[in-house]
Amino acid sequence: MITEELQNLLLTYCDPEDSLLQHIDRETQSKVLLPRMLSGHFQGRVLSMLSKINNPKRILEIGTFTGYATLCLAEGLTPDGIIYTLDNNEELEDRVRANFTKSPLNAKIIYLIGDAQQSLKVLSHETFDMVFIDADKKNNGTYYDLIFDQVKSGGLIIVDNVLWSGKILSQAQDKDTQNISGFNNKIAADKRVEQLILPVRDGLFVIRKK
Ligand SMILES: C[S@@+](CC[C@H](N)C(=O)[O-])C[C@H]1O[C@@H](n2cnc3c(N)ncnc32)[C@H](O)[C@@H]1O
Repeated sequence: MITEELQNLLLTYCDPEDSLLQHIDRETQSKVLLPRMLSGHFQGRVLSMLSKINNPKRILEIGTFTGYATLCLAEGLTPDGIIYTLDNNEELEDRVRANFTKSPLNAKIIYLIGDAQQSLKVLSHETFDMVFIDADKKNNGTYYDLIFDQVKSGGLIIVDNVLWSGKILSQAQDKDTQNISGFNNKIAADKRVEQLILPVRDGLFVIRKK
């Protein structure tokens, strides 16, 4: 949605990625299927900035992939903070754990492999200051409903890909686009939250629980 030239300009005014994030990006691009799922430099800095502003004690990420966004979100944690990150892709587990081990934030990361809805049952005792929903998009609404009561007042729920490459503007929407539009309308009608969509990459819904 934004030209490559402008994207490059944005990066010149944006903090650089550290060497581990650069490594994860390069490794994902060359060795992992569907590398475009990774948040990447600019969105990663947005997530890091939101986390640092929020200074969360507990973060939940649904959809780890190669761990890029996990490390960005973890940058804003309190000294005793923890990020739980959930993914069902066992094939990536060794690679992701190896990369987390290289980070000074490793001790703050709890990485759970399995279906997210099952993993959430294990976390039912927790409360969250920040949640990043970035997994199977058809379940955005399900994840939102499942975690809502565990999010503290003032906490943030961030949902990725809510502009769906601009397809949500289309009149004749396919099933995936209808799901995204349905989720966006659900949030717009939810009086328990304040919300806006940041036009970052594929659209980040930033939702704050009142
Ligand atoms: C878009 S990627 C996450 C990208 C990552 N958050 C980032 O920004 O770099 C989506 C991930 O969700 C995972 N996923 C999809 N369905 C899932 C499910 N039902 N339970 C757990 N993880 C799931 C996929 O395996 C994939 O790694």
